[in-house]
Amino acid sequence: MMIYLGIESTAHTLGAGIVDGEKIIANEKDSYKPPEGGIVPAEAAEHHRKVGRDIVNRALEAAGLTEEDVDVIGYAAGPGLPPCLVQGKKIAEEIAGRRPVLGVNHCIAHIEIGKKASGFRDPLTVYVSGGNTQIIALSKGRYRVFGETLDIGLGNAIDKLARHLGLSMPGGPKIEALARQGKRYYPLPYTVKGMDLAFSGILTAAKKAEASKEDIAFSFQETCFAMLAEVAERALAHTQKTEVLLTGGVAANKRLAEIIRGMAEEHGAVFSVPEAQYCGDNGAMIAWLTKLVHESGAEAAADIRPRWRTDAVEVRW
Ligand code: ATP
Ligand code: FE2
Repeated sequence: MMIYLGIESTAHTLGAGIVDGEKIIANEKDSYKPPEGGIVPAEAAEHHRKVGRDIVNRALEAAGLTEEDVDVIGYAAGPGLPPCLVQGKKIAEEIAGRRPVLGVNHCIAHIEIGKKASGFRDPLTVYVSGGNTQIIALSKGRYRVFGETLDIGLGNAIDKLARHLGLSMPGGPKIEALARQGKRYYPLPYTVKGMDLAFSGILTAAKKAEASKEDIAFSFQETCFAMLAEVAERALAHTQKTEVLLTGGVAANKRLAEIIRGMAEEHGAVFSVPEAQYCGDNGAMIAWLTKLVHESGAEAAADIRPRWRTDAVEVRW
């Protein structure tokens, strides 16, 4: 059985995961937290450089392995912040020596770990994270993007709203907690354009809203989640998939899961969301995708690809 080590470093998180055959045997991470404001790419990269080897060692320890036991090493080649991607690649290459190093796609890793966790074979995937918001389904050998954000990712929009309300990063869980206390819906723009979404206008309106923090958080979530459900519903009707997978960092949101589950079940589809450690950025998903790519002989990136699109990869596994 081959042992795969995966390194995640595309944004705030440095993760190391290990896969042995079909089993995930380690998933360690450490995230850069900006002192204030948003992520500073050079600072995040410096964080990854500092903690990289420790996190890899922690993963090896958790798995009861040494570096020599690893057969293949994968890293997330993109999409992501270039200085962060460079660090991930460096860590992978330093450990590898003469062993194979594969650059894999971060977004596809989110999908594949979700499929592994749920046992789904061919889901419609609602992938919602800080930087990305996409409705994806496999069609003719590629993960096609049926709808996506035209401006910022929903997670980033939520984080920006959180900062505006005086909450620290990451804002997602805090906005979720506030929203649970919200009582009155404050009208916000609803911006679905064809199959695509836009969040920055809603964010601007929410910042100007004359309402309590709780009601703003509640209204923001309800609006954005309803938009996502609408686009996902149309994609589900079009693709006729029978499984709906919610993944990415924002998938940890219980209210979002409830809304997407309701939509899926109305259409007779089954719904799943992975446990939190596999929703947000993590090394296990990179290790798992590295295995799929390696075993199938699919193309891997030889260098970082900061704007690597989900639908640019031929799915051979
Ligand atoms: P990607 O590179 O895929 O865009 P990312 O760098 O944004 O990923 P993730 O860990 O996938 O990293 O997602 C982080 C985002 O998830 C943050 O914006 C965070 O606020 C959001 N998030 C985390 N928990 C929750 C929650 N409970 N509700 C809403 N958003 C959440
Ligand atoms: Fe991510």
